[in-house]
Amino acid sequence: MTGHTARQGIDSHTVLYGVIGDPIRHSKSPIMMNRAFRETAINGAYAAFHITDNKLEDFIRGVRAMGIRGVNVTIPHKLRVMDLLDEIHEGARAIGAVNTIVNDNGRLIGYNTDGIGYVRSLKEEAAPSLEGKHIVVIGAGGASRGIVYALLQEKPARITVTNRTIQRAEELAASLESGGVQLAASSSDRLEELCGDADIVINTTSVGMFPQVDQSPVTGHWLKPGAVASDLIYNPLKTKFLRDAEQQGCIAHGGLGMFIYQGAYAFEYWTGQPAPVAAMKEEVLAALQ
Ligand code: ATR
Repeated sequence: MTGHTARQGIDSHTVLYGVIGDPIRHSKSPIMMNRAFRETAINGAYAAFHITDNKLEDFIRGVRAMGIRGVNVTIPHKLRVMDLLDEIHEGARAIGAVNTIVNDNGRLIGYNTDGIGYVRSLKEEAAPSLEGKHIVVIGAGGASRGIVYALLQEKPARITVTNRTIQRAEELAASLESGGVQLAASSSDRLEELCGDADIVINTTSVGMFPQVDQSPVTGHWLKPGAVASDLIYNPLKTKFLRDAEQQGCIAHGGLGMFIYQGAYAFEYWTGQPAPVAAMKEEVLAALQ
């Protein structure tokens, strides 16, 4: 069979992939990745697995036993899964979180594609240059770490990380090599003041995600008109945070682009082929509407 022959579906050569999380049934990764396999005529199948914390080790044993080639990792496993892998890529190690596993002939290697996927999306869709900017990042979990790491490479003037639990923000700021960027942690109590001075405000928490669509991590009028409001959430496409920000005269940047590009980078690590980004985006948009 040539690469361009229309495929007939799953057969005895199909290579397995998947995404793990808790919860997971909301995930659009399977439809996006299966479209990417169809588009490139790769014989792969990608499923969603509901893996609770107490099943994580069993799952990784299953990956090894079944020869699952690639896994995406989402909430709440991005930190803990690192202990179960054979090798952690340099970027993922610096971030302290893994969202993509490559199974290289039984050797499991952890990567982080969240940060690079996010920054590419932010620059393409909302802020072409981040140099000299003051950026506020809300949340200090696995996704936040990846994003702050990638943002630091873009030479902003200042990044302030706030979190409901301040200790986590402090740990995050202290553990990354800031390379000349002012990197600080702050309590959520100071968000109003910080937002008033920020060029870019990024929500990395789940506040505002479906079904809690009437929640927002900030009050709209805290934002500086003309600033970029950016949300990692892609369901809904436009969160309350982004709607309020637009009312305030801000540029809204949703999480769909990050979602597509983190998946595109994962696809490329697994298959060695360029990801069909436009088709992936079309598929996810259709599913969300
Ligand atoms: P992810 O990989 O998506 O970052 P995570 O590592 O579990 O997931 O991190 C979740 C982040 O969202 C954390 O910053 C968390 O704050 P805490 O460290 O205080 O738990 C934040 N978060 C989740 N729900 C929140 C809520 N209702 N209000 C404020 N912050 C919330």
